Amino acid sequence: TELLLLNGPNLGILGRREPDIYGTETLADIEQMVSDEVAGHGWKVVARQHDCEGEMIRTVQDHYDAVGAIVNPGALMIAGWGLRDALANYPRPWIEVHLSNVWAREQFRHQSILGSLASGVIFGLGAIGYRLAARALLPRAES
Ligand code: DQA
Repeated sequence: TELLLLNGPNLGILGRREPDIYGTETLADIEQMVSDEVAGHGWKVVARQHDCEGEMIRTVQDHYDAVGAIVNPGALMIAGWGLRDALANYPRPWIEVHLSNVWAREQFRHQSILGSLASGVIFGLGAIGYRLAARALLPRAES
């Protein structure tokens, strides 16, 4: 049983990316955290990070058979219409996560074009948001 953990542009450099905003955890730390959360349920995490929207779309298309997905789309939240179409056709529950409190930031981050498609959205809690998303997916995805 696989859980897709998909991170978008500029998230591969977490730990070194504006740490005041995004924290000091690396993406590897986050992937480990999510794996630990679901391992007891026999779920394996498939972790992917892409800087290009096309690769994000392809990864979504390639993982229809996952139990669910956790997606931090990065700035694709703002205008990633192709990714939005891919997620609209995603047959499994998925949760949108943002590390930072996007509401407390620039106006252009105050809306996600993807959020209305997600089962839920978590933002502003840093890396632990991913862990909470994994926990929330467990009962949803198993049904
Ligand atoms: C982000 C928030 C986005 O607005 C930004 O473009 C990112 C990171 C977050 O995790 O807080 O790349 O998704």
